[in-house]
Amino acid sequence: MSRARAYTNIALVKYWGKRDPQQMLPFNSSLSLTLDQFYTETSVTFVDDVADQFYLDGEVQPVSAKITHVIDLVRAQSGLQKAALIRSDNHVPNAAGLASSASAFAALALAASTAAGLKLSRRELSILARHGSGSASRSIYGGFVVWHAGQDDQSSFAEPAIANTEQVDFPIAILAVLVDQSQKKVSSSAGMAASVATSPFYPVWARTAEAAIPKMTAAIAAKAVDKIGALAETNAMQMHATTLSADPPFTYFEPETLQIWEKAREIRRKGLNCYVTLDAGPNPKLICQLQDVEKIIHEFQKEFPNLTFTSCRPGPGAYLVNE
Ligand code: ADP
Ligand code: DP6
Ligand code: CO
Repeated sequence: MSRARAYTNIALVKYWGKRDPQQMLPFNSSLSLTLDQFYTETSVTFVDDVADQFYLDGEVQPVSAKITHVIDLVRAQSGLQKAALIRSDNHVPNAAGLASSASAFAALALAASTAAGLKLSRRELSILARHGSGSASRSIYGGFVVWHAGQDDQSSFAEPAIANTEQVDFPIAILAVLVDQSQKKVSSSAGMAASVATSPFYPVWARTAEAAIPKMTAAIAAKAVDKIGALAETNAMQMHATTLSADPPFTYFEPETLQIWEKAREIRRKGLNCYVTLDAGPNPKLICQLQDVEKIIHEFQKEFPNLTFTSCRPGPGAYLVNE
């Protein structure tokens, strides 16, 4: 049996749209920060059984097509012809759209490949995880990570965005704000497919996001948290514009999402760096300077006393956990 842990990541330049849904190739490259607070642990054992089995948080669940796809790739690569017994635990606020698929499929890729006797490189793990969920290709690594869109299966992988780091000493904090715990109505896969198929803005989105990658990389290299935040906020809103411009239009925003964004802009006018990004869900993540965390939480709690904040720092790449 092999057990692996992987952490979620927050995209600073988003992946939103598949050029090739079969091979899980994206239209544009993306760039993220792996976080140290939310993670998935998954163990995989290959057994003599008729079918794969999946337990999530202790309860038996249907084996999703995405899980089967990853396990089939592991069986094909290793030659093993056994069934997988998979036990997974999500240490993320339950189903709150905090990128559970990223930590889930990064952990599954590492646990399943190891259990099958494969010794994959980080790049090979990133490609395997990508087949389960695109954002999972990035959670194989810690710190700031870029997923190169690539041309084909082998050239579409993630790697550290800047050399030799998990950036534990980087002066950045991500405050995850929980406004809504409920499961999202439109999955990431379905949402991005709708944007690709129906938003007339989609081609402009993909071009603009690709062009944001070198800008974000430069801001990270300069440790310019304000610049990182400003670029991330612009990119996030450009992504969400492809949902509002879809036909029929849809949005992941809740009223609180806009209130929090407005509050962040107000805090900026007071001279503090506080920027907003959000993935395919209503829960904003605030990007700020490490030294400003307490002040920013205080500012928010004056107006929103019931909100909970989880303060995140750069987290590690996926690793094997010993029982
Ligand atoms: P999120 O924002 O949480 O990543 P997605 O729509 O991208 O939302 O993906 C959610 C899907 O990820 C769920 O439908 C579920 O099938 C899958 N998932 C979540 N946690 C796990 C896990 N630990 N193992 C396998 N699949 C998981
Ligand atoms: C908005 O990786 O969850 O979080 O590849 O279909 O599983 P699938 O989608 P997923 O999409 C993530 C979308 C996003 C942006 C990002 O993480 O880059
Ligand atoms: Co996801």
